[in-house]
Amino acid sequence: MSAFDIRPLTRWTGAEIFGPDLTGPIGEELAAALRDALASWQVIFLPDQHLDIPAQKRLTQVFGPLERCPYVVPMDDEPDVIAVLKEAGEVNVGVFGGDWHSDFSFLPVPPLGSVLNAVEVPPFGGDTLWANQVAALDALSADLRAEIDGRDAIHIGKPYGVSHAPKEEERSGGSIRMVRDDPQADREMPHPAIRIDPVSGKPALNFNPTYALRLSGRTEAESAPILDAIQRHTTRPEFCVRHRWRAGTVAVWNNYTTMHYAVNDYDGHRRLMYRTTFGIADDRQTSPS
Ligand code: SIN
Repeated sequence: MSAFDIRPLTRWTGAEIFGPDLTGPIGEELAAALRDALASWQVIFLPDQHLDIPAQKRLTQVFGPLERCPYVVPMDDEPDVIAVLKEAGEVNVGVFGGDWHSDFSFLPVPPLGSVLNAVEVPPFGGDTLWANQVAALDALSADLRAEIDGRDAIHIGKPYGVSHAPKEEERSGGSIRMVRDDPQADREMPHPAIRIDPVSGKPALNFNPTYALRLSGRTEAESAPILDAIQRHTTRPEFCVRHRWRAGTVAVWNNYTTMHYAVNDYDGHRRLMYRTTFGIADDRQTSPS
């Protein structure tokens, strides 16, 4: 294996990895070290890689099988890859992922994680934040924990459905194409409010402002103050890492233990990232037993 230097970025969340060359085939020893690093840090950053799409797909498959995302239109000739693009001319529009979320938590089995490959970055802004939901659960107050223990969080594909669709001016716009107004996305999907990370077996909070609608056994109105309090807690800066992108950096995150947020503060500049997604490799457990 090539030299492998891990530099943690915060106490709980995020580490940079220097040394490995990911442009060619990835041997089993390196693959295992990358999986271990992700399991420890929940999001890893690999600078100066400049991966082409075949190399990005190989890296993705180190963590799980390639998975195609519903509702987001992939690249024409690469059905496993989403081009997360905002053009310089797109101003005052939302961006893809521009609010706290874990990916597709309204699906019966959400994806395990994603790889984001920075191709073209703006001269300022365009950072991404991740918030560690294992750390957030560990620090949750006993009162809030009692409100959610044993309950499901009901998730729904609000940005893609009809009944909870965001206002036109709040929608992610422009270069990245999404399928909207699909009644299928309005299907309510219960998931444990505390879910188990299939990688580490650790419990993590499973709420996000983008998709979580209410708690099981409670109405939306009854759930609202609890969800507000939990969502304020889950994104406390102590649980977060904020990444300043450079072209060539690749990030990999665990979608069961983190939420993320793409910061929309670079109007007038182009930003292009290639995103691939991986699923759960086997029948690993995702609910508390
Ligand atoms: C996303 O996958 O939610 C987008 C992240 C980003 O563009 O920084």
